[in-house]
Amino acid sequence: DGTSLDDLIMRDSNEVSLRVMTDEELYKLEMEKIFAKTWLLLGHESEIPETGDFIVRDMAEDNVIVARGPDGDVHVSLNVCPHRGMRVCLGEAGNKRVHQCIYHGWAFRPNGDFIGAPVEREKMHGNDVDKKTLGLKKARVHLYGGLIFATWDVDGPSFDEFLGDSKYYMDQLFCRTDSGLELLGPPQRFVLPCNWKVPGEQSGSDGFHTLTLHRSLMEGGVMGGTAESIYDQAPGMYGVDISCKQGHSLRCLEAEKTFKMFADVPFEGKSTRERLELLTPPGITKEMIPELFKNLSEDQVNQLATIPPQVGGLFPNVLIAFIFAPRTDGGSSGALTLHTYMPKGPDRVEFTNYIFAEKDAPEQMKRDMLQNSIWNTGTSGVIEQDDADVWPVIMKNARGAVSKGVTLKYKALHGHERPEGWVGEGLLYPGFTKDDTQWNWWLAYYDLMDAV
Ligand code: FES
Repeated sequence: DGTSLDDLIMRDSNEVSLRVMTDEELYKLEMEKIFAKTWLLLGHESEIPETGDFIVRDMAEDNVIVARGPDGDVHVSLNVCPHRGMRVCLGEAGNKRVHQCIYHGWAFRPNGDFIGAPVEREKMHGNDVDKKTLGLKKARVHLYGGLIFATWDVDGPSFDEFLGDSKYYMDQLFCRTDSGLELLGPPQRFVLPCNWKVPGEQSGSDGFHTLTLHRSLMEGGVMGGTAESIYDQAPGMYGVDISCKQGHSLRCLEAEKTFKMFADVPFEGKSTRERLELLTPPGITKEMIPELFKNLSEDQVNQLATIPPQVGGLFPNVLIAFIFAPRTDGGSSGALTLHTYMPKGPDRVEFTNYIFAEKDAPEQMKRDMLQNSIWNTGTSGVIEQDDADVWPVIMKNARGAVSKGVTLKYKALHGHERPEGWVGEGLLYPGFTKDDTQWNWWLAYYDLMDAV
């Protein structure tokens, strides 16, 4: 309708038009320029350990089969039969060496290759058709700490290029032990009546909203853990926000200032190992601490022990929550959770909650982490119920003839500033109530939408 991207994302004034949440033409462009281009999280390889194991997931509105082939590799194929467009796999998960379409019976391998069709031997296609051209469309796949990422952009940026400077920090969460992570049960899912960008931009490390929207949870002590482990809200809760031009971000909070327990149990002057034993990062037992030093650099372990990454996101639609709940007895009931916000139309988003623990963690610790995540950040968790109250109301507002003229303000910008002695790259911002990381999320959005 003549509206340009610059009319919606106002880079001169650091504002975003509320119209971006409802505009149908914009949504169609997002599907092509973002969700058909960038790396998307689809699950974890622990969901499909055996040959033939598969899960069915979505890359935005494109349904895909994620399968383990006889070669041991994970393959992602479009779940659309090239014969007449039927969905080839109708289940959600299982084990199959052959996926056969129910319409006319075309059959495919776990890697998407065409095997044959009924009466193929009688030369259904004659000799004119090259079978190699009849397979399912294949996505490019990358496993990161066992997390399955895929993109349709086979010649685009590598996964490491996509992570950029964030890799140093993300490794502290996903690539830190010998056994790696495992998914604790199938992911939880629910659909919310809102545009994917409403939760998407919040995943750009919006720490500010926790002070108000989630305050009652902190004050009431219902966020899990013991009274000693409850977050001490402002002014004590501050740290460093990390971001990068790819739009990813992580909020890192100083452990000593975040958890009241360290007022009684001194943190100062302790070695990295001693700090880790006190902090008990979720999923890491005392016995596993040497593995951190083996898999990460000393600087990365030191950060994990002093100012660990806790909440953030991977552009465009992943939220990361690494919830600490240290106790003075050395125990922990924290969680490591990822959400994806998958678009299902301009005004619908599917929220998926993935709950993780280290594969080698004791069973009791896994149960505690599962419980913590379900209780806090699960689909009916106390934190997400707060968010799920707000997001659809923003959408209702975005439809009003006058309301949609409102602009979202990202004017609390500090500008990046490297704390003294900080190791690790990226754009660094002090504190956690500013708009810098979320504004970077919109700039990454702009760059992809503006690309030819
Ligand atoms: Fe799949 Fe015809 S649509 S075999």
